This record gives sequence, C-alpha cells and structure tokens, in this order.
Amino acid sequence: MPKAIEIENFSYKYPDGTVALSDIALSVEHGQRLALIGPNGAGKSTLLLAMAGFVKGTGKVLINGLQINRKNLKKIRTSLGSCLENPDDQLFMPTLFDDVAFGPLNMGLEPEQVRIRVADALQTVGLAEMADKAPHHLSAGQKRAAAIATILSMAPQIITLDEPDGSLDPKNRNNLIKLLASLHQTLVIATSNMNFAAALADRAVLLDKGRIIADGDAKKIMSDSKLMTEHGLETPNKEMSFLRNLS
Ligand SMILES: Nc1ncnc2c1ncn2[C@@H]1O[C@H](COP(=O)(O)OP(=O)(O)OP(=O)(O)O)[C@@H](O)[C@H]1O
Ligand SMILES: [Mg+2]
Repeated sequence: MPKAIEIENFSYKYPDGTVALSDIALSVEHGQRLALIGPNGAGKSTLLLAMAGFVKGTGKVLINGLQINRKNLKKIRTSLGSCLENPDDQLFMPTLFDDVAFGPLNMGLEPEQVRIRVADALQTVGLAEMADKAPHHLSAGQKRAAAIATILSMAPQIITLDEPDGSLDPKNRNNLIKLLASLHQTLVIATSNMNFAAALADRAVLLDKGRIIADGDAKKIMSDSKLMTEHGLETPNKEMSFLRNLS
C-alpha cells in the first residue's frame, strides 16, 4: 500500500524570492496523526499548500502514491482534503449548506447522497442548526467548524488542517480535539499551540526556516524544552496529555 503522503527533496520559493521550504523529506503513513509544529514563518502553511498541490515547487510530492501534477490533481483532491489557514478562503456560497455540499456535488454524487453527506458533516462539527445561514454571518469559531465540515463532506482519506484551533474558545477547542481524535483519517495538523498538538498527535515534525529540524514521537519532541525554546516554541502543559484519553 502506498504511503498517505510521500515528499522527497521538496523546495519552494515564493515569486518574491522568499525561500519557504528547503529540501523537505517527509513520509506519512495512513492513520497517522502528525502535528506540524514551528514558529511563525517556519513554512507550515506552505508545506500544507504543497501537499494539496496549491503551490508547486521542485522535488516530489506523492499522495496515496500519486504524484501531484495536472493530470492527477482532481483525483488527489478527492483523497486529500485541506482546511486552509483562513476559513473565509473556504466559504464562498450563499448558505452553509451550499458550501458543505459543494465538494460532494463536484465529485458527482447524487443529490440525496449529497444531502446525507452535508447533514452528517454539519452534525459532526455541531452546526446542524445552521445549514441555512450565510457563512459570512457565522462567528470566527463557527467558521472554523464550517470549513472543517466542507472537508468532512468529501470523506477524504487524508485531512490537513492549518491552525484549526485558531479563534476557538477553550470549550470549542476541546470539542475540536475530541472531534479530530474521533476521525479515522490520516491527519496533518499545523499548529503553534503545543497543548493542542500534544492532545492529538502521535508524531511531531518541527519545522523552522523552511527546514525539518526534528521528526519523531510527538511527546518526546515536544517535551524537549531546549529544542522547543530554541525554535520559539514552548512545552505543552502536563495536564493536556490526559485529553488524549477522552477519545
Ligand atoms: N504569498 C507569499 N509571498 C511571499 N512570501 C510568502 C508568502 N506566503 C508566505 N511567505 C513567506 O514564506 C515563509 C513561510 O511562511 P508560512 O506561511 O508557510 O509560515 P507558517 O509556518 O505557516 O507561519 P505562521 O505560524 O505565521 O502561520 C515566511 O517567510 C513567509 O514570509
Ligand atoms: Mg501558517
């Protein structure tokens, strides 16, 4: 079985010349929950964009064994769903229902099947009552949940999430942790919140200045206070690890 994500020798430079990623090698197994950690500007978002084929650099990116290129992109987008850093980039239809239905409709599902997918996804993120609401009228935390629903409705095997804990209050952050912990998908979660990462991830990849600094057991990496401080991060609170048992 091919790896969920396989990245070899990948580098990316933005058009203005900023080198965002240098020589990235990363292999993610199906079912893994990986936290992509690193300070602001480390390259986390760029790496997630590369995984979804939104930026194209040098080197190789394979999703489920398929190399990202024009021919494979449509197929890849059905197996990897990407929750972007800003939920507003993902919500553009008149109603929440339409936004969550957009992906499954695009995949060619029958209307009845689409309705079921939408209802399930909204139920899962706690927005079942809001289907008819205009997405731009949702609160920041609700937009975050809505963006996740637009991905869940496509039932991808792999989900990447960029700072999904942003703008969530503690209760909703814990709800999100429980929700993500309950998913069977391969998860790649970019975050600079170590408590959030510790509650979810089995593996951590520390990125700084576009390079992978450390890759391994999440607990081991995140409890290395020297390493974390050197890269502008902090160690998680001890008590957060108990959240792992909630799932
Ligand atoms: N559109 C862009 N054009 C030019 N440079 C960019 C662009 N987007 C990001 N960068 C640069 O690329 C580098 C990596 O940025 P990226 O957004 O991937 O970091 P990040 O780890 O996600 O940071 P944060 O924690 O702040 O979200 C940074 O130096 C940033 O300034
Ligand atoms: Mg980012």
